[in-house]
Amino acid sequence: MDEVLTVRSFLDLTVKWLAQKGCESPRLDAELLAAEALGIRRLDLYLSPERPLTPTERDRLRDLVRRRAKGEPVAYLRGRREFHGIDFIVTPAVLVPRPETETIVDAALEWLAAASLDAPQVVDVGTGSGAIACAIATACPAARVLALDLSDAALEVAARNVAALGLGDRVRLDRSDLLAVLPTDAAVDIVVSNPPYVAEDERPLLDVSARDFEPALALFSGPEGTTLTARLADEAWTRLRPGGVLIVETGSPAQTSRVEALLKARFGALAVDPLPDIGRTVRGFLARKSLEGVGP
Ligand SMILES: C[S@@+](CC[C@H](N)C(=O)[O-])C[C@H]1O[C@@H](n2cnc3c(N)ncnc32)[C@H](O)[C@@H]1O
Repeated sequence: MDEVLTVRSFLDLTVKWLAQKGCESPRLDAELLAAEALGIRRLDLYLSPERPLTPTERDRLRDLVRRRAKGEPVAYLRGRREFHGIDFIVTPAVLVPRPETETIVDAALEWLAAASLDAPQVVDVGTGSGAIACAIATACPAARVLALDLSDAALEVAARNVAALGLGDRVRLDRSDLLAVLPTDAAVDIVVSNPPYVAEDERPLLDVSARDFEPALALFSGPEGTTLTARLADEAWTRLRPGGVLIVETGSPAQTSRVEALLKARFGALAVDPLPDIGRTVRGFLARKSLEGVGP
């Protein structure tokens, strides 16, 4: 990169350079990194575009941009990511929360609003940064959320988010292999999860940012991407109260079809609804446990 002297010239050069490196959102990434390094809001970059960068700022920005060009996610470089209107701390120990997961959160919130329970019991399986658990607890003050993960490093990040958002009285964290930590008569209202769902042989198809930087434990789930979801469906069935629901995110169209079939086999063909996003892409399913508590 050439000498970078002002905010504007830094942005112009960086956008061009990141685009050449194959970055899909070069302007957004450049703006986010510049705002972070300068300690200002993204829109404020345009209030003083001719502001000269100090040599320290320039060096810091160059380092961030070089790392971005190699595929490091912007969220890891900033240490933060917005999800469901909330700013979350993220580190390489956790998956970067994705916008598609907001469909899962919205489905849970819609169900909770309709159920209108006094203190609904929600379990978030594979909580990572705590994004789903904290988003639900923030939007539904009545909810009591248990957030589980197998990764101690992820749980540490989730604990920082729970504390930063002041949710410690309603979001509890625990280490667990899926729902193993819960007794089978737990009778929870909702199990919600964005489980790992990438098939092992899809590894080469993954974006470099995910493949080389995000934790493998957060991504892969057996040869067809359904190993964990299949276990989760069985484990959730036993821990849900009659009338409770499992809300689970899915991935590729093929993996989504497999999950639909396995959920219908466990919960019943009429008890499983697809969860489309605003573009009508199915992002997951809601599966209801019958009021009689019996399977199909
Ligand atoms: C796709 S990430 C989802 C993270 C977060 N819920 C989100 O939506 O951004 C899946 C998470 O499941 C966790 N995980 C993987 N295998 C698990 C298991 N057997 N039991 C519990 N958690 C698991 C990973 O550590 C990771 O944090």
